Amino acid sequence: MLLYDAVRRRRDTRREFTGEPVDPEVLERVLSAAHCAPSVGMSQPWDFVLVREPATLATFRDHVRAERARFAATLEGERAETFAAITVEGVVESGLGVVVGYDPRRAGPSVLGRHTIADTGLYSVCLAIENLWLAATAEGLGVGWVSFYREEFLGELVGFPAHVRPVAWLCVGRVEDLPDVPDLERHGWRHRSPLASVLHDERWTPRPDAAGPDHPGPGTAGSGTAGSGTA
Ligand SMILES: Cc1cc2nc3c(=O)[nH]c(=O)nc-3n(C[C@H](O)[C@H](O)[C@H](O)COP(=O)(O)O)c2cc1C
Repeated sequence: MLLYDAVRRRRDTRREFTGEPVDPEVLERVLSAAHCAPSVGMSQPWDFVLVREPATLATFRDHVRAERARFAATLEGERAETFAAITVEGVVESGLGVVVGYDPRRAGPSVLGRHTIADTGLYSVCLAIENLWLAATAEGLGVGWVSFYREEFLGELVGFPAHVRPVAWLCVGRVEDLPDVPDLERHGWRHRSPLASVLHDERWTPRPDAAGPDHPGPGTAGSGTAGSGTA
């Protein structure tokens, strides 16, 4: 698949998993793509824990359900109704969770390029995730990023030491198809904004949020920021 095709075809997957196991060679290629990502000071600060044990998947799914309910309870009116129809995870259905961790101690205390911006370590992990997502798309696999969890819970579930931060639970699996339209768009939660709405010449200028109406999020009454919530 051409790179631009993979970029366009990539989709957050929740409902489409078939539950069939992923070919080990394919998984190896996808994880190798993640491991090829750029990283600050070449620190390669990521870890990938592969979770297939049904009991662990179910435990995590239950935790996600509880967090989903907690978020739902913060919504009102049309937002609450719209959210009620949205699936936010395919943890059990995918059959495979790839838990991505960030280890800030990797590469020692002097990480080239990180002394000014500590977050560059985290940025590096996110690039590995994007590589994984695009490679999986090229292989015809689905990936769903789940962030409805408490970091301490997930860290303990997969045995991360205290200094390793969980960055994502990725549901990875075979899918019937990848939808053309993002789920959140299909449900009317948010839309992809036009490029022009985020492009600035020479200096930043304020723009209206072109991805949808302003819905003040929980605890941000009147701030007018996008109500994109967690998903
Ligand atoms: C950091 C991050 C966290 C996300 N967490 C969730 C999540 O918990 N549940 C979910 O259904 N989607 C989650 N998503 C997926 C987004 O909802 C999705 O990327 C967005 O709606 C655009 O759709 P697309 O990826 O199919 O283009 C997450 C994506 C990112 C980048």
